[in-house]
Amino acid sequence: MKIAIVGTGYVGLVTGTCFAEMGTEVYCVDIDQAKIDNLKQGIVPIYEPGLEEMVARNFQAGRLKFTTSLAECINEVEVLFSAVGTPPDEDGSADLRYVIDVAREIGRNMTHYLLVVTKSTVPVGTAAKVKAAIHEELAKRGLDRDIPFDIASNPEFLKEGAAIKDFMSPDRVVVGVESETAEKLMSKLYRPFLLNNFRVIFMDVPSAEMTKYAANSMLATRISFMNDIANLCEIVGADVNMVRKGIGTDSRIGNHFLYPGCGYGGSCFPKDVKALIHTAKQNGYPMRLLQAVEEINEDQKTILHRKLYKHFDGELAGKSIAIWGLAFKPETDDMREAPSLVLIEKLLEAGCSLRVYDPVAMTEAQRRMGDALYYARDLYDAVVDADALILVTEWKEFRLPSWPAIKRLMKQPLVLDGRNIYEIADLEDHGFTYYRIGR
Ligand SMILES: NC(=O)c1ccc[n+]([C@@H]2O[C@H](COP(=O)([O-])OP(=O)(O)OC[C@H]3O[C@@H](n4cnc5c(N)ncnc54)[C@H](O)[C@@H]3O)[C@@H](O)[C@H]2O)c1
Repeated sequence: MKIAIVGTGYVGLVTGTCFAEMGTEVYCVDIDQAKIDNLKQGIVPIYEPGLEEMVARNFQAGRLKFTTSLAECINEVEVLFSAVGTPPDEDGSADLRYVIDVAREIGRNMTHYLLVVTKSTVPVGTAAKVKAAIHEELAKRGLDRDIPFDIASNPEFLKEGAAIKDFMSPDRVVVGVESETAEKLMSKLYRPFLLNNFRVIFMDVPSAEMTKYAANSMLATRISFMNDIANLCEIVGADVNMVRKGIGTDSRIGNHFLYPGCGYGGSCFPKDVKALIHTAKQNGYPMRLLQAVEEINEDQKTILHRKLYKHFDGELAGKSIAIWGLAFKPETDDMREAPSLVLIEKLLEAGCSLRVYDPVAMTEAQRRMGDALYYARDLYDAVVDADALILVTEWKEFRLPSWPAIKRLMKQPLVLDGRNIYEIADLEDHGFTYYRIGR
């Protein structure tokens, strides 16, 4: 089977590579010429564990091809996935410009039956817009009745940092279809991933579109809920870590996504929560719970700054602050909507000098922030002469550092832990003042 994936970003590249790994012939298409040129030379533009090797293997085997021209491959494939970005517009709605551009290009170039699958996260009703755009372009060519096509919605649930694993053995695959042909083609494509336990959930297209937003909004809700509980724990003298264990063992609640911290970020949760609020508003329904989820998160992104401000009685100007972790979460170099960005902005505004370190996001950080910061060589270089160390992203290499060495290097032994990864007693035994979230 031959397929095309249009949009070779986090989702498109992982999707294309994983399908190729299962023996499918895949064309990965992107309008970014530099990205495609690099991929042809084995340079993978994102950090994702295991991806580079898998791309190289499938590229060399000839199953994975990279191109900037959809026209060149569209007539060789049976199924086409659209995985272009859907960034937030100014009003919070999902910007569907790229999705519709792709639909139009399909309509301009297709010459035989095609199943067009939207993999991007898109609001309910987008599939209908994609269908209309393809029809319109076919009609311009006088071919609207001659070339049949189907549409499907196949939202993606992979997590950056574990994308290959998530795609290769998914909890479930959600597919919205309108025809039997589409259902058969999608079953055929996904069967190799789910040989032992076929967990493709077929449904109608609007429900599939909504499922993605509902999933991300539920996860964001759990995080904001725990952040609210954590903040109250601090006030009333409870320990949120104990509370988390206490409730997470209840099988009705479960223990995932109950970790309080300095806010969620990334390319999905913030924009998807906003987009769902917007869809609801457009339909005359106020999403009161999600509005609060978002508000709590915005506030939580400033919590480390507030703790530092309080510790120094507002005297932050001239302080040197070390920051560990810049990516929005571990195992990725993605800094979109990262809590570190809010903290950095606030500390620079307050007149601090910053020494930052992240195991893989340093190039991305430099691209975003230029020379406003000192980019440390490693976690120890970051703390040299620092008045405080702030942990923002819980990379594994930060879990067990040498506290005596850090104490010797720092100007003041002060640690603020935005992810609650250290033991209070451990830090206090080494003579540090230690702040965390929710205690
Ligand atoms: N990143 C994630 O973890 C994740 C997870 C699940 C779902 N999603 C969703 O998947 C979609 C893609 O996200 P992403 O993070 O991969 O985006 P991304 O920004 O990393 O990649 C999008 C790619 O599409 C390309 N593109 C734009 N217009 C194009 C066109 N007309 N033709 C060909 N290529 C074009 C861009 O050059 C870019 O390389 C979004 O809707 C997102 O919400 C993302």
